[in-house]
Amino acid sequence: MNLDLAFKLNFTMSLAKEAGEILMYHYGNLKNIRQKSRVDLVSEADLASEKLIVEKIQSQFPTHDIMTEEQDFKSKGSDWTWVIDPLDGTTNYVHSLPIFAVSIGLKYKSEAVIGVVYNPAVDAMYHAVIDKGAFRNGDEIHVSKTKKLGDSFLVTGFAYDHNDEWELSFDLFRDIYRKSQGIRRLGAAALDLCFVAQGRFDGFFEINLFPWDITAGDLILREAGGFTSGWKGENLPASGKKVLATNGIIQDEILDIFQNEKYTLFTNY
Ligand code: IPD
Ligand code: CA
Ligand code: CA
Repeated sequence: MNLDLAFKLNFTMSLAKEAGEILMYHYGNLKNIRQKSRVDLVSEADLASEKLIVEKIQSQFPTHDIMTEEQDFKSKGSDWTWVIDPLDGTTNYVHSLPIFAVSIGLKYKSEAVIGVVYNPAVDAMYHAVIDKGAFRNGDEIHVSKTKKLGDSFLVTGFAYDHNDEWELSFDLFRDIYRKSQGIRRLGAAALDLCFVAQGRFDGFFEINLFPWDITAGDLILREAGGFTSGWKGENLPASGKKVLATNGIIQDEILDIFQNEKYTLFTNY
């Protein structure tokens, strides 16, 4: 079956660029920041980016399903689902830190077939099509070849919900930090995955993410030769509830740490 992914990829990359222009228009000039919670923010830029993306998809592909961060999901029963974060890294964006992105994934029958992550602040466009490799601004990218956790440079994140898992995340952070070369917390999960894909980091782990944070980045990472899973080593949960993404080589060493008895809160799911 011809899924016409070349056409859909061009459409998606143009859309991400246009959404990126909207983000740059509001960047450093926000008038309307709402707190979904004390720490979870949404601005007019998130909403304007989302509106543009949703309207363009609806007009080009009226039968497709669309899942986005700022709107409730209503399925039309399509084989195609767009999974969108119109602004990943909102807290960075609100504070004029240029680490944020538009993330657009496209699934066909629950398998991601296109992933596009675009950071307009540095004009970095990551893309992947299933079985066709991963690219940054047109150049093919690959994961690192780092062989062990002790030589690894990692990235992580912490969810907005300050629950028991969030508390325990800091113990885990210390444990893994001690065993690695260092861990960064950059604040945009979609970019974290792309940075592992291009070998800047050797691995990424986070809990309680959402489909729109990971759908595009997961495909980009796997197409760059990386590996993603849940925290018990199972297939990556599409929900984003538990994410471990590495160059593939250090995956098991990190999984072993998660299996420690003191982390059963993370693996009881
Ligand atoms: C957030 C970012 C952050 C991660 C949070 C996400 P948002 O997305 O990806 O890195 O740690 O868990 O919710 O709210 O900026 O789109
Ligand atoms: Ca996000
Ligand atoms: Ca967002």
